[in-house]
Amino acid sequence: MEVVIAKDYKDMSRRAAILIAGQVMGRQQSVLGFATGSTPVGTYSELVAMYREGIVDFSGVSSFNLDEYYGIGPDNPCSYRRYMAENLFDHINILALNTHVPNGLAADIEAECRGYEEKIRLAGGIDLQLLGIGNNGHIGFNEPADFFPAWTHLVDLAEDTISANARFFASPAEVPRSAISMGIRSIMAARRIVLLANGAGKAKAIKNMVEGPITPSNPASILQIHPKVTIIVDREAGAHLA
Ligand code: GLP
Repeated sequence: MEVVIAKDYKDMSRRAAILIAGQVMGRQQSVLGFATGSTPVGTYSELVAMYREGIVDFSGVSSFNLDEYYGIGPDNPCSYRRYMAENLFDHINILALNTHVPNGLAADIEAECRGYEEKIRLAGGIDLQLLGIGNNGHIGFNEPADFFPAWTHLVDLAEDTISANARFFASPAEVPRSAISMGIRSIMAARRIVLLANGAGKAKAIKNMVEGPITPSNPASILQIHPKVTIIVDREAGAHLA
């Protein structure tokens, strides 16, 4: 694991955007794995700025998002599909048909999950997966459990996660209680992983991920055995690291 302590949120975002832009420059047909949440918003705006300056061209890129709430559609303002449109896709030249987010309204969940994995496989696998981390160590929506969920699946969200995400919804009652998420194997299969965290609230999760035991009760700890992972944190999130 390579751990980079950035000066602040802006510096963390810029460093992440540079890694992503570098990946796309090296391979125009790159397959990128995207994350949502508040953490990567700055990274996406840096990428938009780089696109506007002509530094990076997304016309050949395909993307797969980690997860989507179950039971809400792409037009719901709280859906991750809408988040991606607003923060990134609508401002760069990625082709809409090359962007993938699990369908939160899928009637046949099993088929949706299998189909999502198949699309990743047909695209050639993910070159670079961007990740955030939940306060409880979740990645994507892989919650602490007694096993590592393998592939894309339906998840019951932990109470922690529901309350952490309530800030994005009009009322806590509106926060979906389940989601479709790529599994730990889907994430670990990415050729490169970049995980971001900022703020003191993430310091414990970061320390446990980097220095704690590898255990499904702390899903992010599995990243210790990925051969190419870069963790970029601001000073606050990195504060408890040895
Ligand atoms: C959600 C997402 C995760 C994200 C996490 C942290 O649960 N499914 O992918 O990493 O939130 O979000 P934030 O960046 O807002 O702290």
